[in-house]
This record gives sequence, C-alpha cells and structure tokens, in this order.
Amino acid sequence: MGIRPAPWLGSLLLVSLWRLSGSASLLRRLGAHIQQFQESSSLGLGLDAGARALPKEGWLQQPLDPFNASDRRSFLQRYWVNDQHWAGQDGPVFLHLGGEGSLWPGSVMRGHPAALAPVLGALVVGLEHRFYGLSIPIGGLDMAQLRFLSSRHALADVASARLALARLFNVSSSSPWICFGGSYAGALAAWARLKFPHLIFASVASSAPVRAVLDFSEYNDVVSSSLMNTAIGGSRECRTAASAAFAEVERRLRSGKAAQTQLRAELGACGPLDRIEDQAELLGTLQALVGGAVQYDGQAGAPLSVRQLCGLLLAGWSNRSRSAHYGGLRRAAQIVMRSLGQRCLSFSRAETVAQLRNTEPPVSGVGDRQWFYQTCTEFGFYVTCEDPGCPFSQLPALPSQLDLCEQVFGLSASSIVRAVDQTNSYYGGQILEATQVLFVNGDMDPWHVLSVTRTLGPSESALLIPTASHCLDMAPERPSDSPSLRLARQKIFQQLQTWLKLAKELQIKNGI
Ligand SMILES: *[C@@H]1O[C@H](CO)[C@@H](O)[C@H](O)[C@H]1NC(C)=O
Ligand SMILES: *[C@@H]1O[C@H](CO)[C@@H](O)[C@H](O)[C@H]1NC(C)=O
Ligand SMILES: *[C@@H]1O[C@H](CO)[C@@H](O)[C@H](O)[C@H]1NC(C)=O
Repeated sequence: MGIRPAPWLGSLLLVSLWRLSGSASLLRRLGAHIQQFQESSSLGLGLDAGARALPKEGWLQQPLDPFNASDRRSFLQRYWVNDQHWAGQDGPVFLHLGGEGSLWPGSVMRGHPAALAPVLGALVVGLEHRFYGLSIPIGGLDMAQLRFLSSRHALADVASARLALARLFNVSSSSPWICFGGSYAGALAAWARLKFPHLIFASVASSAPVRAVLDFSEYNDVVSSSLMNTAIGGSRECRTAASAAFAEVERRLRSGKAAQTQLRAELGACGPLDRIEDQAELLGTLQALVGGAVQYDGQAGAPLSVRQLCGLLLAGWSNRSRSAHYGGLRRAAQIVMRSLGQRCLSFSRAETVAQLRNTEPPVSGVGDRQWFYQTCTEFGFYVTCEDPGCPFSQLPALPSQLDLCEQVFGLSASSIVRAVDQTNSYYGGQILEATQVLFVNGDMDPWHVLSVTRTLGPSESALLIPTASHCLDMAPERPSDSPSLRLARQKIFQQLQTWLKLAKELQIKNGI
C-alpha cells in the first residue's frame, strides 16, 4: 500500500511493439490505440497547464483469493488518485473502474468522470483490474493463477478497495462513492452497485454489455445498419460495397496460389494464405477492421471513421466493379495497419494460438490472454456473421472460435455454454435489479444491444445517444461533439447532482 509520484511517461508507447494477430486482437488494439492517443493529448494539456498536479499512483494489497480466508496469498493492485478538486472528507468519491487492459493516469484526469469532479468537488480514484496492466499477481498467467481471474473476483476487489481507500484517505463514512466504467468495466460498475449497495451509492455504466452471449451475431447487425446510416457518412451503397469487397477477397482466396500471393502482397499479410484456418483469420481481421470503424466512429485517435471507410469503399463506385471496392478495403487495411505501427498483418492461426498460450505477463498493457480467458469462462462475446443481414459472408463460425478456448485453455465448448448461462443468472442479464444505475450507450455502437437502453424504472435509467459510438460519452469533450452527445453529458451531470443531493439528504436524516 502507499502512494508515490507516477513514473507514467515511459509506459505510453508499449502496445504498438506487439505484432498484431487475430481479429479480436485487432479490435482490442484499436481501443488501446485510441486510449493512448487521448492519453498523450491529456499529457500535453497537463504540461501546458504547468502548475497542475500529476495524478498519484498507489498500490493496495489485496487477497488473491477473496473467497477463501485460509488462503493468505495476496497481490498488489494499482490505483490512481486525483485529489485536486476534492471538497474534503465529506465530498463524494468517483471510483473509475479499470477493465480488460492497463488503467492509465488519464483515467483520473480527463474525460468522464474526471471532468465532472471540479464542479462536484469529488475525489477521483482509478482502480486497475486484477490481472491487467501492472496488477498481475506474481507467478504470471498460467491456469492455476487464472482461476483467480473473473468479474466476481474483480468485484470483490472493488469492495475491499472501497473500504481500504476510505481509511487511507480518511473519507467520511457518509460520503457517497459512485462507480464509473466503460465497456466491460461499465458492466462491473453496474454490478458493483447491484452486489454492494451498502458500499457503492450509485453507478454510471457506459457501453456496458451486461448480457453475456455466446454467439454475438448481433454485433454485425449493428455494423451493417451503421454502414447504411447517412448521419455518420454511411449509405446503402456503402454497405453493398463492403459486401462486394469481402466477396472479392473470398474469390481471390479460392483462385489458386498466384491470386493468394497477390492478395498477401496487397493486404500486407506477414505470411502465406494457403491454409484454410489462416484464410478464416484474414476474413475475421478484415471484418474487425470494418467493425472497428463503426465501434470507434468519430473518436479522437481512431484511424478510420465510417465516413472515411465508405469514401474508400465507394471511390470506384461509378466503375461498379467488385475489385474497385476491394481496392478501397485494401487501402483501409493499410491505413489501420500504419496507424497501429504494424509492418504487416499476421493472419496465422498458429501464431494466434501461440500468443494466447504464452503465460509470461505481457509487456504491453493489452492483456489478450487474460481477456480471452474471461470470454471462455464468463462472457463468450464471439462475433459471428450468421444472420442474413451480415455483410461479411463466410466468417469463421462459432465452432472455430470455441475451438480456440479448447486449444489455449483446454476448455470444452459445453463448459463455455454453461459459463455464459451462469454469468447471466448470477447478474441478471439485461434485467438486473439494480437501483441508482445510469446506463449510457451510443446507438451506433455494436455493443449497445447487450446493454440496458431503456429506462427500467425510476431508479434504473438509460440514455441512448443517437449516432454515438463505443464509450464516446467518457471521452474528453471536443468542439466537434454532436449536440446529442452534449445533451447526454448534460443529463449525466444532472443525474449525478440528483444523486449527490439525495446523499446529502440521507446524511442530514442520519444526523451526520
Ligand atoms: C483455501 O486455502 C487453503 C490454504 O491455501 C487451501 O488449503 C484450501 O484448499 C483452499 N480451499 C479452497 C476451497 O480452495
Ligand atoms: C479524519 O477526519 C476527521 C473528520 O472527518 C478528523 O477529525 C480527523 O482528524 C481526520 N484524521 C486524519 C488522520 O486526517
Ligand atoms: C474499373 O476498375 C478495374 C479494376 O480496378 C479496372 O481494371 C478498370 O479499368 C476500371 N474501369 C473503368 C471504366 O474505370
């Protein structure tokens, strides 16, 4: 435990040193890239402001197994603190939960919840998730250790961190603690309130997939409709062009060695494409590239927006040839590859398996093995293309994705099916009975279909932001923000004011 100044300048550029492999990995790297981009711009701002204090880094000693009091092993969990706006011991505490990656100091400096702290006088604390970033227990990532990685363990950490931090910072017992998080961490924020209402006063859950699902074919339904959405630069033609480009890639894959060699050169593949499983990886990665343009549409640092992608795909529209659309997809792949700092794209299934099997703690903060383990043991979330509306035919079907859990962790398909069911019965899926939770989603975000998008009652409310992408509400404000995003941020602020007023009334009622 304890606190020391943050040596955080060096850790920003690690992710891009890793070779990209696998489609899920592409999406995760895009997310990390965007986060780092925003982080480095927040760094710039911090330095310009000169006198502003840097966030402090601290460590909490947490039990490795919080469900077995006889097990005395522990690990160090990292947290970040920004106390510049804190109104004092009775002021609120904003607990920003980390998810499936490193938690950066920007988590307590910029974007929401940090941007709400000055007006509301809050202490902002960012808590890194166990097994990610620098909060990996000693002993690495082998199966015996990964037994202690789950959302339930992470929630136990939230509860004990909440108590330990209150002691450490001498927070008054009546101060409201409010959880925030985005994506998986958004689900954790909602669940923290659900499971520990005596410790967490309220939660704001952004883009939180609270329903686990094995076959996430709905992801591509949203991708498909977003590609057609004219408000973000999509069109019916764009979706058709995307389909045509994929059909052309498939045709070339089937057209013999010479065509494959040409495809390899044109797409910047690291290795040959003659194995069926590598061809499936290729299609999966290209799908993730299009999915990524939708999921991160309009975000600072995103290499490709829907408008730009559609522009590329339709550059040869008057020509109406499949190969013209394919040319657009190829350029899109080059743009993404370049901005992620990759010299080539790996489509090797064997390489994906080897990377996921590596039990050494990763140098980069992305945590592919850990997150893949959580998908195999809790959430599924395997993106497929099985609905007729899906623009990318012939994607790897569910069995080949489940097979990876078997190859990497020895987990059978039937165990994954059961795990997903257990997750939904444990938390309640999309009809979780939590109070004082605000769910925020963007309707362009493929993940919103697994979240709560309609207000379920007076104390479980929902905002669905038109044309917004994944976790956009949490990003730092920009002049280009849409009016609907500004309005949503205003509503989040009003909700917090309402909760803090309620907390104050309770303090008075309880004579504190
Ligand atoms: C609890 O921890 C003790 C000590 O490490 C161990 O002997 C025991 O098997 C554990 N129990 C369970 C249920 O894991
Ligand atoms: C903690 O806060 C209380 C008031 O809430 C104060 O009386 C006490 O001196 C504080 N202790 C420390 C160590 O700051
Ligand atoms: C259409 O595109 C193809 C492939 O890019 C090219 O070979 C052909 O010349 C183009 N036709 C016209 C009319 O531009």
